[in-house]
Amino acid sequence: MIDAYKRKINYLRLSVTDRCNLRCRYCMPATGVIPKQRQEILSYEELYRIAKISVSLGIEKIRVTGGEPLVRKGIVEFLTRLSGIPGLRQLVLTTNGQLLEEMSEDLRAAGVKRVNVSLDSLNADMFGKITRGGELSRTLAGIAAAHQSGLQVKLNVVVMRGVNDMELYDFVAMALDQSLAVRFIEYMPAVEDENWQRYVVPGKEIVERISARYPLQEVPRQRLSGPSRDYRIDGVTGTVGIITPVFDHFCNDCNRIRVTAAGQVKTCLFSNCGFDLKPYLQSSDENALAEILKRLVQ
Ligand code: 5AD
Ligand code: SF4
Repeated sequence: MIDAYKRKINYLRLSVTDRCNLRCRYCMPATGVIPKQRQEILSYEELYRIAKISVSLGIEKIRVTGGEPLVRKGIVEFLTRLSGIPGLRQLVLTTNGQLLEEMSEDLRAAGVKRVNVSLDSLNADMFGKITRGGELSRTLAGIAAAHQSGLQVKLNVVVMRGVNDMELYDFVAMALDQSLAVRFIEYMPAVEDENWQRYVVPGKEIVERISARYPLQEVPRQRLSGPSRDYRIDGVTGTVGIITPVFDHFCNDCNRIRVTAAGQVKTCLFSNCGFDLKPYLQSSDENALAEILKRLVQ
């Protein structure tokens, strides 16, 4: 699918739940998040139909997200069905890793190729503070198990000045030691916070700080890659990437659409309103869903 700005849309982010077993400070308020009623959330059957039709329209990569996707019951069976869609080239998952240790083998067997694990601190106290109750050891065990099972692992680190930016080198060292890809993400104002700017460390500064210790070589962008700009370090397989939603917009290269767990299509991450797919899912006309997806992209 080609959109009105001539961008090729080949990547679907599919949220399977709005629930999460953590409450990361940059993502959710501490309390008062009311999970959607069960009947508002799309069934696996509906999510599968959206995925299948999207692939028939040219989507080649699906990322399953949440909330935390691993908290939804039946997720492994759902992923197994997704990976069987003819024409789908890559099935990947974003997770906070708290349940990954026990689920890695099943995820690999279900056809998941890679997991992107959110990991914002290597210090157990700070990890607990940022995630409001997460256990660092669980996520680290999850990463090790994912590796063992043959899943590729990418780490997502949201960099916050004065909170975890002093750990940049520790993350790079971990990426190099364990042959992982680590991506540093500029903190975005997703939760109401008047002083959000004080937390943002510009991607450029992150690269400069890392370059002071490790010589970075930029890697050309891959065809199905997301918005990360990636760097190699001579002699090792681990990589370092920077995602800059605040200081260096990547809208030009955007290749994705997003579907929320409640069936709203968002063509932009920063869009406040979505388009409700539910009426089209209820229609018995298979073509209606394909047509509306095409029109939304156009
Ligand atoms: N700013 C930057 N990154 C964020 N993420 C979630 N909320 C924010 C935010 N406000 C990232 C997390 C997670 C990924 C899905 O999105 O790192 O890994
Ligand atoms: Fe949000 Fe992910 Fe943290 Fe859950 S783990 S609160 S979805 S950033």
